[in-house]
Amino acid sequence: MVDDLFKRRAIYFNAFDIYGGSSGLYEYGPIGVRIRENIKKVWRHYFIDYLDSLEIDGSDIAPRIVFEASEHIELFNDPIVICSSCKTPYRADKLLEEYFERNNKKLEADSIKKLNDKEIERLIIENDIRCERCNGKLGNVERFNLMFKTNLGYNGEAYLRPETAQNIFVDFIYLKKSIGFDLPRAIGQIGRAYRNEISPRQELVRMRSFTQMELELFFDPESDQSKFRDKDLSFIYSYQIPFKRVGETEPKIYSLKELLDYKSIPNIYFAFMLYLIDRFLKDIGISNNYRFREVEKEELAHYSGGTVDLEIKTSYGYIECEGTAYRRDFDLKRHSEFSKEDLSVSDGKGRKFIPHVIEPSFGLDRLLFALLENSLVDDGRGWKYLKLNDKIAPYKYVVFPLQKDDRLIEKAKQLYEALFNKDIAVAYSQTGSIGKRYAKFDEIGVPYAITIDYQTLEDNTVTIRDRDTTKQRRVSIEELISKP
Ligand code: GAP
Repeated sequence: MVDDLFKRRAIYFNAFDIYGGSSGLYEYGPIGVRIRENIKKVWRHYFIDYLDSLEIDGSDIAPRIVFEASEHIELFNDPIVICSSCKTPYRADKLLEEYFERNNKKLEADSIKKLNDKEIERLIIENDIRCERCNGKLGNVERFNLMFKTNLGYNGEAYLRPETAQNIFVDFIYLKKSIGFDLPRAIGQIGRAYRNEISPRQELVRMRSFTQMELELFFDPESDQSKFRDKDLSFIYSYQIPFKRVGETEPKIYSLKELLDYKSIPNIYFAFMLYLIDRFLKDIGISNNYRFREVEKEELAHYSGGTVDLEIKTSYGYIECEGTAYRRDFDLKRHSEFSKEDLSVSDGKGRKFIPHVIEPSFGLDRLLFALLENSLVDDGRGWKYLKLNDKIAPYKYVVFPLQKDDRLIEKAKQLYEALFNKDIAVAYSQTGSIGKRYAKFDEIGVPYAITIDYQTLEDNTVTIRDRDTTKQRRVSIEELISKP
């Protein structure tokens, strides 16, 4: 059950609510926006700045040929089943999965991903699964393409991008020629992706418009030489992560070297990405309740030669928040064929090749949702608040005057401005009792509340209250401003 705090504090909410909402579309309020921006900042630290990657901001709409080349037109579809009476559409595999879960058939639920459409259809009939709305019989299982179709101008068939990745593949050679760089090198992008999900559910988990943070790491498959700031990547071998290999029912702790030796992951660059994902995750505040899962062959996307999903536990069970895929040279080869452009590069010794790609792809909305749920704690008196760390919290500080006294207000506003001018994320509040103000800002995860009281007017000190311990300490304003 999703906590009502998220909606009550307008962190996110249904889009177009006054018209009854529209499923799969959500909006973020001011607190949600700030938290999301902070997650993006940490992502950029690891995946753009640390790796010295190139970041782009591409077009959300692309002409048909782009998705013919990427095979999204032909293959980016989900199984759909429609009620023969009321015409309600269902995503067939999810309907079956939920049916098995409700009936405590975990093994059957877990194996759905491996079934083909005919098998799904047979199981729906055998188990007499009916329309949830009118109890009508369900029809045949068919395929439904998830892309939103539109036109560029009068009749230029186009689609909203279902992943941000395609801009990067299309731009790769342009960037390589104009900037000039050696491999391995990554190109990243944060942006909207659009999928016309058949029956969006579970809040931010299955949306029709959502944000991805994607990185395409281009490399020479015949060389494992690092050009990153870590010239020797072997330091990651002993790094351990919780990992569920194919055939295992529970995750175990594996070192990245073990996963390479077992061939659960294809190469050192893939291992390097898992290392960075794990570090990123811990940095935003998720240090347990997650696992990496080796994706089975039958589940792989059409472009992938091996995928590992990052799954985080939520009230909806473990949800996939990121997938790292070995896309090989699939996309560049196809774009080369369709555009007739030579997208190969040279190794400097006369060998020409199409670069291979490892892609860590995060869904920002799912990550935010998982982070919010995993950060929610009870203060021991039945009051819930978000235990967000300083990097992710919407504000690091909030400044309060103890009472509505002009002298306290003036001093509080001065401190607020001084912190603001130091580029610190700071809020200000003077409404309600001090206890209520603490509770209000605890709730949205602000780690420290600074109070200006009458002693401040005498000795220029303030109290700083720690959200998690509720303990207060007194510090001088000078010290606070010099080391905020
Ligand atoms: N470029 C690869 C790619 O798009 P994906 O597994 O389809 O791979 C990557 O998507 C991530 O995007 C997922 O791990 C998930 O976090 C997020 N995502 C996918 N579909 C989503 C949806 N309908 N709503 C919210 N997030 C979604």
